[in-house]
Amino acid sequence: MRSRNDGSTPRSACSLADLGRGEIVTLNIDLRVSIGTLELKNPVMTASGTFASGREFADFVDLTRLGAIVTKGVSACAWPGNPSPRIAETASGMLNSIGLQNPGVDAFVEKDLRWLEDNAPGTPVIVNVSGHSAEDYVDVIRRLEIEPGVAGYEINISCPNVEQGGMAFGTDCLSAAAVTAACRAATARTLIVKLTPNVTSIAEIARAVEAEGADGVSVINTLLGMAIDAESCRPLLARVVGGLSGPAIKPVALRAVWEVANAVKVPVIGMGGIANGTDAVEFLLAGASAVAVGTANFVDPTATIRVIDGIREYCERHTVLRARDLTGALRV
Ligand SMILES: Cc1cc2nc3c(=O)[nH]c(=O)nc-3n(C[C@H](O)[C@H](O)[C@H](O)COP(=O)(O)O)c2cc1C
Repeated sequence: MRSRNDGSTPRSACSLADLGRGEIVTLNIDLRVSIGTLELKNPVMTASGTFASGREFADFVDLTRLGAIVTKGVSACAWPGNPSPRIAETASGMLNSIGLQNPGVDAFVEKDLRWLEDNAPGTPVIVNVSGHSAEDYVDVIRRLEIEPGVAGYEINISCPNVEQGGMAFGTDCLSAAAVTAACRAATARTLIVKLTPNVTSIAEIARAVEAEGADGVSVINTLLGMAIDAESCRPLLARVVGGLSGPAIKPVALRAVWEVANAVKVPVIGMGGIANGTDAVEFLLAGASAVAVGTANFVDPTATIRVIDGIREYCERHTVLRARDLTGALRV
């Protein structure tokens, strides 16, 4: 990262929109980043489960501007999810216990993937994969390997809202490594493993999945929490506990990204409470190579685009010519 204190703009580093008058300066910022073999046009992805497969957002967001679309979790067979109520609002975030409801991989391909192929050309689609066993994850990947519209997989071993599978795989180095190895053997495409913060050392789990061939790690999934209605003396969620997301978890997520980025060589995709460009830049400085926007999509459906524009504006203001130079540029 380069910083300048004198307010001047190096001519070699920019295209001058108003050459001669020297007032209006447009820097040619390179926003591209790489995750495994994937090159993204900018570092901003959608966080799984908060953007569906993009269809509901297409009226608000030009999907071709996104770095990547990460789909909601897809399993081999349809999952009904958890009983309602399964969403609760808290002071600075939301609790959910959706339980990875989805129609199964075949329905996903017919309905969502085909739609994405037509409506988000050029934007990599990363399928978030759910399973109750390592075989379940592999089954989903095998089914999708024949689909050219899939760029990679994000393996969710971190969902706190299902009894079997989900977070159970992500809280133990051996099982996290075993799921990663099984998925790695099933694909040469970009393989990202999504980690839970609900562990003693997230860096240890990251190292375990890196050793089995993960191309990147997503940090973080939701934090376990609960909410209570004091008047009725009842929990707000039918399942009592759920996953906390949104601004409340940002400091935890930043710490986790920083720890993981210092522990592994593969790219880290940071997420947790990102709502604007400055939030995203903070994750990049902490060591993330890319970021994902989640709960903010429910507050403002254009949040992803605001975050992309915000990163560019930050780079212009600080004369950072390549967004990837922000990664790990934190001064400590
Ligand atoms: C309603 C909801 C559904 C989610 N579903 C998934 C999912 O299917 N798979 C997954 O890996 N993460 C899922 N997540 C976690 C998010 O992708 C993200 O990691 C988390 O919410 C933190 O980011 P945020 O604070 O920006 O929302 C879900 C989150 C929410 C709020």
